[in-house]
Order: sequence, then C-alpha cells, then structure tokens
Amino acid sequence: MIDFRKEVVDLICSVVADIDAQEVYRLIEIPPSYDLGDYAFPCFKLAKIFRKAPNLIAEELASKMGSSEYFEKIENKGPYLNFFIDKVKLTETVLREIAEKKDKFAAKDIGGGRNIIVEFSSPNIAKPFHIGHIRTTVIGNALYKICNYLGFNAIAINHLGDYGTQFGMLIAAFKKWGDKETIEKDPINELLKLYVKFNAEAEKDEALKDEARYWFKELENKNQEAVQLWQWIRDVSLMEFNRVYDLLGIKFDSYAGESFYSDKMNRVIEELEAKGLLKESEGARIVDLEEYDMPPALIQKSDGSTLYITRDIAAAIYRKEHYDFYKNIYVVASQQNLHFKQLIKIVELMGYDWANDCIHVPFGMVSLEDGTLSTRKGRVVFLEDVLKKAIDSTRKIIEEKNPNLENKEEVAKQVGVGAILFQELFNSRIKDYVFNWERTLSFEGETGPYVQYSHARANSLLEKGNFQLGEINYSLINAEEEIDLVRLLYNFPQAVLDAYEKLEPSFITRHITEIAKAFNKFYNSCPILSADEDLKRARLSLVYAAKTTIKAGLGLLGIEAPDKM
Ligand code: ARG
Repeated sequence: MIDFRKEVVDLICSVVADIDAQEVYRLIEIPPSYDLGDYAFPCFKLAKIFRKAPNLIAEELASKMGSSEYFEKIENKGPYLNFFIDKVKLTETVLREIAEKKDKFAAKDIGGGRNIIVEFSSPNIAKPFHIGHIRTTVIGNALYKICNYLGFNAIAINHLGDYGTQFGMLIAAFKKWGDKETIEKDPINELLKLYVKFNAEAEKDEALKDEARYWFKELENKNQEAVQLWQWIRDVSLMEFNRVYDLLGIKFDSYAGESFYSDKMNRVIEELEAKGLLKESEGARIVDLEEYDMPPALIQKSDGSTLYITRDIAAAIYRKEHYDFYKNIYVVASQQNLHFKQLIKIVELMGYDWANDCIHVPFGMVSLEDGTLSTRKGRVVFLEDVLKKAIDSTRKIIEEKNPNLENKEEVAKQVGVGAILFQELFNSRIKDYVFNWERTLSFEGETGPYVQYSHARANSLLEKGNFQLGEINYSLINAEEEIDLVRLLYNFPQAVLDAYEKLEPSFITRHITEIAKAFNKFYNSCPILSADEDLKRARLSLVYAAKTTIKAGLGLLGIEAPDKM
C-alpha cells in the first residue's frame, strides 16, 4: 500500500535542505478534521532554524513545493502545511491491497517468526471461573492473535494456579468430609464448599491447620495418595474451565502452571543463594528489595515450602531456556502490579539481561453492584452463566426477527459470545468497571452485534450483487461517505500496530466500530445494487473491502463474523 505519510516526508525533504527524514516523519500530525487535510506538517521547529515566523515558513514551503501525484492539494494554513491525499490514488491503493491480501492486508511482518509468550487466563483450580477472569482471558487471547498476525510465533500459556498450601487444605478437607461422586457432579461448587468449610473449622481448631500443612508437604514429597487426589482435583477443574474456553473458542499451547515448577524450585533457591540475594528473616528466606522501594519478596517459608513468586521466578527462567522468547507477556490484573515489579527486579538482580523482556500487562478490576467479587461471601458470577445467558437472549432475538435463519444455534453462540467479548475489549483495559447484567446483554449502540450485523449486511450485498474481484474504475468512488470509509480502511493497519505496541486491543475494537458506522452511512446514502454496472462494481468492491476488514478485525479480537444473522 502506498505510505502517504512517507510521501509527505519525501516532499518536505525535497524542499528543505539538511533536514532529518525521521524527525519529519515524527513531526507530522493528523489534523482533527479532513477539511484541514489528511496530514499536517507544523513549522514551529523550522522557525528556530530559519529564524523566521512559522507561518512565513509554511507559506514559503507551499510555494516551493511542486505538484505531486499523491496529493490533490498542498496548502499552508497558519503555521501548518496541509496535505490532501489524492482520493483516486487512495481508493485504488486500499482496494487493490485488500483484494490481493484479503484478511492479511494489515499483517505487517514485524515478528519475523520470533517467539513471544502471552500468558493469560491462569485461573486457580478448585475455584470458580468467574466474571473476574474474563478480562485476562479475553484481552490475552486478543493479544495472542494480534502477535501471530504480525508475524510472531505467539505461545499461549495458561499458568494455572494448581499448586500451593491451599491444596493441603483441600486434600485434608476431602479426606474428612469429601465424597467423590458428589464432587464429580458439580466439581467446582463442591470443592469450594469443602474449602470454605475447612477454613471455617480451622478458625476453631488449630489442629486442622497442621493437617493441611502436613498434606501439602506430602504432596511436595510425592506421596501417592496426595498426588492422586491433587491430580483428580486438577482434572475435574480443568474439565469445567475447558467448557468455558470452548465457548470462547480459546486454545492454549501450554497449561504449564504453578505445579509444573514444583521440581524446579531448588535450582532457583540455590541460584539465588549463590548470587548472594537471599537473606534469613525469622527462619524464612527473602530477597530484600528495600533499595528499590519495594517490600521484601518471601521466597521460602520457615517450613521449607516455596511461594507463588518462587514459582514465577522458576517459570520465567524455564520459559527463556525453553522458548528463547523475544517477549514474555503476563496479562494479569493490576492488583498484582507489585508482584510483577518484584519478580522482574529479582530476575534482573540474578543477572539475566532478558529481565526487562518480561512485561506485565495489567488491567482494571471488575466488581459487582453490591461490592467486590468474593468467593467466600458467595458474591460470584460464573463466567459460564454470563456466556450462556448472552447466548439465550440472542436466540430469543433471532426467533423474533429472523426465525428462518439457518444454523440458528451456531449464530446465537457466535453473536451472544461475541457481544460479551466485544464489550470487554471496547474500553481501555486499565479501566475498572462494575458488572451489570442489563448492559452486558444489551445489543444497542456500539456493540459486537452491531459490528457483526454490518458484516452480515455487507456479505448479503456481495451475494445479491454476485460480486467477483476484478478490475474496477476507482475514480467512480468519490462520494464523501465512500471516501470516509476508504480512509478508515486505509488506517486499519495502523490501528493493529497501535494495539500491538500499546498491548491494547481496544484500538482495534474502536476502529472496526468506526468502520461499521461508516459502512452503514455509505450503504444508506449510496445506491449499490441499483447503480449502473460500472458504479455497482466499484461500490461492491468497497463493500468487499469493508467486509474483509471488519472480519479481520473481529478475528483479531477472537470474535466470529457470521455471514448471515
Ligand atoms: N492464578 C493467579 C490468580 O488467579 C494468576 C496467575 C498470574 N500469572 C503469574 N505468572 N503469576 O490470581
């Protein structure tokens, strides 16, 4: 595709001697409205060099600059030099590129096949998979797809919380009160009940805490009974989680969670020791981080058991050795900011030069209207219930509006789940929000179903118009509504790059929402199927480009784009 911004740079460099092209590239701005052009070059910096008022410089540059095939107009306005892209050139380059590369048209290869780890979801086993987990799961999956799209070999890791002292409690509780059959009928709820009961009883009876510690030690010592129970708890939990991942269409490349590192802990402790980073503190061993304004990190308890952060140190080292990652990305709530700051600092202190290739991608909290989510207080909304309700209400809408639709069930799933994902990915990730059923199930306004519907509408136009890719007369595309849409399509690759660079999928969500809106405006104001043959072909190729881009964008967000709905 023609890089018009680069053409602006070339033009400026051709009339200003000794100017750094990269600096010019950076200085170029996108004006707030198209009346001021597609690009603007501010002349303030040059004013210092030439000792002249910026508006005089803008005037002079405008007069020196000859015509260019890429711009229909170049004019000075105040201290700015404004560039107006030639619309036929723009339309031609965008539509040709999309026709040729299809859904890959924004896929710049910046990864060069390098490995990039995206760790996301990572729920704790034997605990509910609730609405609080939706963010890491959905944001992580989108980042994973975006990285793959941009030429990386992305690796999706689910760092399951499947280890730690709480499993001592669960095993002890199961041995006292548990029943296999009951649990297998409703694993998470039943395991949760056991866990809650154990905690309550342990408040009254100290001996229970010893039992829990005993069983965790036995688990660490690979006592057969303990390992078998733990394995079973992990299996039944994963079965439940996988139902949700299936609904969401998410797959992981690895489920190496905390337990995977249980035999890799000694090496970490020895290494920390050898590097002089461990300190004794009341029988436990810590890494002192006072110098870096952080509380100490507890690495090993006085009874010898290791902790969450110890397993994370082991995981980081393992991942580097095993995957030789370019980046190791953790999509984890901002509540764990300190944890990851400590982790990365410790890895750095261990002398690993890749420490800062480990990147924590935080996101804000989800709370409920009656307060924070709390498993213990029973304030939890299961993610599976949210997805199922969304599918149910979509099914009802389809029954009302389009009862003869084929594959109703499949479409209800694609649209219902898509609505939830889209909403989740619409706002910048760092924002907190309060979960609300009504809003979650509403399909009005800037929503997933709106964008999916625009895609389906485009598809039906292409079918009715019997569209085939081929030569078209690009100059026929010149209505304002058409050019607005073309511009948005042209800028889609940049939205994908922004999403990657800022690790923020919402750039894509918002951009395709704008494309859907512009598409609908175009559709409402420009007759397509009833136009003369040449114009019809030109317009249909714009419809094709919009459809292809919306589908590519939804795909990057992990959302399906049904052809009919
Ligand atoms: N299991 C943890 C939790 O639910 C999240 C794990 C995050 N990842 C990590 N490498 N520490 O809070």
